Amino acid sequence: MSYQYILVETRGRVGLVRFNRPKELNALNAGLMEELVTALEAFDAEPAIGALVVAGNERAFAAGADIKEMAGLSAVEMLTRDSIGRWDRLRRLRKPLIAAVAGFCLGGGNELAMTCDMIVAAETARFGQPEINIGVIPGAGGTQRLTRAVGKALAMEMVLNGRLITAEEAYRCGLVNRVVPAEACLDEAVALAQQIAERAPVAVRLAKEAVNAAFETPLTDGLADERRAFYMLFSTADQKEGMAAFIEKRPPQWQGR
Ligand code: HXC
Repeated sequence: MSYQYILVETRGRVGLVRFNRPKELNALNAGLMEELVTALEAFDAEPAIGALVVAGNERAFAAGADIKEMAGLSAVEMLTRDSIGRWDRLRRLRKPLIAAVAGFCLGGGNELAMTCDMIVAAETARFGQPEINIGVIPGAGGTQRLTRAVGKALAMEMVLNGRLITAEEAYRCGLVNRVVPAEACLDEAVALAQQIAERAPVAVRLAKEAVNAAFETPLTDGLADERRAFYMLFSTADQKEGMAAFIEKRPPQWQGR
């Protein structure tokens, strides 16, 4: 499949998608988002792939939704096109998704990074929800995921006053997993994805579901779901293999079942 706005490649067991609108700072137009979701869904369905990475370039992960594409639209056009509806497909990806973020990570770009399961940030990364500067608010989870990640005080400042934060600040407040030199960012994200991709796939899938459920369910329900998933894993060959390998002091050989 050929794409206009993204570059797609496989590195080991990792499916990698990079935005390719450098002149527009990878602004997320409808075409780019459709290609992104399509490529990630294809990797998600591919058994040889165990984890996914999404990245921009050194100047920008993404500077937000494409302002020029939406500037003239009416509320009814926005509603009927419902381009943010496409983002729901990202939440349904079963494999871990890691964002490699360098440069600007703003508006919809930050919302996309926060939709991922983990974020590896370059020292150059700048995170923000500057929609207030153009007369709107975040529309793809910025007010919700940012607040859950960094807390109310900082989220209010970023969303109400358009404040950008550095990679170091993002690390301190729990928005990103780690901060690395810019030139190492993509490789670090791919290496992290590769490590996860080499783990027992059924356990990884249930682990991702269980952690994500912590944001959606009351504690009692989340604990019950987690316990059922834990017990269910004892029906997999990989549980028998993983525990036998530990006892026999050898590396496990996963079968993905
Ligand atoms: C369309 C964009 C863009 C965007 C940058 N460009 N951001 N085009 N949509 N979000 C374009 C510029 O128009 C310009 O094109 C080129 O990219 C380079 O940008 P410059 O502004 O010249 O670069 P610089 O001076 O370095 O400033 C970088 C910047 C600034 C601080 C990131 O571009 C900026 O403020 N961008 C908008 C950020 C923003 O408001 N994002 C939120 C969008 S709303 P030309 O052709 O003029 O050279 C949003 C809502 C999400 O994301 C809702 C859910 C999806």
